[in-house]
Amino acid sequence: MSAGKSFYVTTPIFYVNDVPHIGHAYTEVAADVLARWHRQAGDRTWMLTGTDEHGEKILRTATANGATPQEWVDRLVESAWKPLLDTIDISNDDFIRTTDARHEDNVKKFLQHLYDAGFIYTGEYEGSYCVGCEEYKQDSDLVEGTGEFAGEKVCAIHSKPVENLHEKNYFFRMSDFTQPLLDMYEANPNFVQPESARNEVIQFVKQGLNDLSISRSSFDWGIKLPWDDSHVVYVWFDALLNYITAAGYGYDEKKLASLWPATHIVGKDILRFHAVIWPAMLMAAGVEVPHQVYGHGWLLVGGEKMSKSKLTGI
Ligand code: ME8
Ligand code: MG
Repeated sequence: MSAGKSFYVTTPIFYVNDVPHIGHAYTEVAADVLARWHRQAGDRTWMLTGTDEHGEKILRTATANGATPQEWVDRLVESAWKPLLDTIDISNDDFIRTTDARHEDNVKKFLQHLYDAGFIYTGEYEGSYCVGCEEYKQDSDLVEGTGEFAGEKVCAIHSKPVENLHEKNYFFRMSDFTQPLLDMYEANPNFVQPESARNEVIQFVKQGLNDLSISRSSFDWGIKLPWDDSHVVYVWFDALLNYITAAGYGYDEKKLASLWPATHIVGKDILRFHAVIWPAMLMAAGVEVPHQVYGHGWLLVGGEKMSKSKLTGI
């Protein structure tokens, strides 16, 4: 990239259900190396990181620890997540929390915009939900459990049983974006990298996308839908928007224009959210898609992904 260009790099915003481990540090360092390189090259560089604080996983952890979710996330962010950045000397320019007003207010604006444009409708959904992933799973995402879960189907990432949920929800017309996404990957071979990640994403989208459930009504730790306060926004829809709410979406269009689009560095566990759902959301809202999504590999413990949920964090 030549001098004077803009380089906006992000890490995932991490779930504060527990303290960080060296897997989170790994992503931070990867993004930090890129940011430092671009700053040195004279590019207008901006590095964003932060925390993902809503949803059922955080709510359950807080409750199990005798705290309200707000108390729990405040405690974890201040005592563990921000100090990690000091310890490993990350040069981030901003830190966003999904409980920040700048985030919550503008997530509502984004959703109202999609609703008014006809991309959201009500429907019913029944499926297997993994609270660790905060995601509805297909049968092909499940494997045979072992040990205490022998004989049950478990999430391939978290090795824990999924829960059967049946809810009336709001849905995003993601199926409309199957072909636009395939065209975009074709036109821009660097959009998803490395090549293995790109191939996985294209194979997945080629099967055809389903509409996405984007609200939950069985608990209330989240951002309320602007048109129906008995539902909170699905935590992933909320979280992905951090990349533009931190950059001014809805309140500072000049800042947004100077920063966006971003380069997203993520672990391969959350590749589909970033390379499929996120660009579909942006296309629906008429916002430019990211510059690139780079999915890196995992640090393993005993052959499995090191994980907060599995208590294998170092
Ligand atoms: O998924 N090896 O948060 P999360 C390498 N809140 N990197 C690892 C790792 C490992 N063993 N374990 C975690 C979420 N990571 C969502 C993201 S973004 C809008 C929302 C890193 O706390 C890696 O970057 O589960 C992975 O993608 C991320 O932490 C998942 O963190
Ligand atoms: Mg995770």
